[in-house]
Amino acid sequence: MKPLRSCSAFIISLVIIVVYEARAGHSLSRKPDRGYYDFFYFVQQWPGAYCDSKWGCCFPKTGKPAENFSIHGLWPNFNNGSYPQNCDNLNRNPFDKSKIVGLIKRMQVEWPTLSCPSGDGFKFWSHEWNKHGTCSANVLNQQSFFQKTLDFKIKSNLIQHLSDAGIHPNDGFYRAEDVEAAIEDGLGVTPYLECNFDKEGNSQLFQVYLCVNKLANAFIQCPVMPHGRRCASSVQFQSFSRF
Ligand SMILES: *[C@@H]1O[C@H](CO)[C@@H](O)[C@H](O)[C@H]1NC(C)=O
Ligand SMILES: *[C@@H]1O[C@H](CO)[C@@H](O)[C@H](O)[C@H]1NC(C)=O
Repeated sequence: MKPLRSCSAFIISLVIIVVYEARAGHSLSRKPDRGYYDFFYFVQQWPGAYCDSKWGCCFPKTGKPAENFSIHGLWPNFNNGSYPQNCDNLNRNPFDKSKIVGLIKRMQVEWPTLSCPSGDGFKFWSHEWNKHGTCSANVLNQQSFFQKTLDFKIKSNLIQHLSDAGIHPNDGFYRAEDVEAAIEDGLGVTPYLECNFDKEGNSQLFQVYLCVNKLANAFIQCPVMPHGRRCASSVQFQSFSRF
């Protein structure tokens, strides 16, 4: 009797554990905001278009940025087009400057804030981490989230690929498909172009989205295109030097 009893006790506890685990797994899969995502959008912005929009811009406290694309963010996304956000509900892993001290100089150059009032970037980076970065924290810790994002900026080298195709920030108008083709020729993946509109209603190149795989080590063809405002067939590439 005794061995049998302990045996059934064992089986019962096993069943309890299995059911418990299955439920936990089930509830996890229903709460993707705990760090589930399929890929990233890597988003860069053109300062000339940002400054020419109705919101205008303020230069960072660290000075006027270079005439170059700058980083907006690295955003976890689902294949169905929706995205998780603010995944650190318990505030266990908030943005922490001390985790990125070695990157701050580069971030000031590559990831400046252009919003008003002028800032030193920390508010912008903190927003990017808390809203987006926390949703991929099971793959990228804070240091690697910012580091990888900086590295993708260099890898993408947009301004060079555009220039190779004769596309320059000279206030000129270019066919949106030529801009896309120039980036695709350089990187082997199709970008998504987002435009904003100036007071005259010109469609101007504002942001370029590229897709990055879940492990954040390669550009990929986008599983789904973003919802940003599509460009007209002709886009203006604003000069930034006159601001
Ligand atoms: C998209 O997929 C995620 C993760 O599977 C899910 O949580 C979300 O509800 C889905 N959204 C839509 C609009 O289908
Ligand atoms: C633009 O940024 C890229 C990536 O950081 C850099 O390699 C390039 O030299 C910059 N170009 C200009 C014109 O500032």
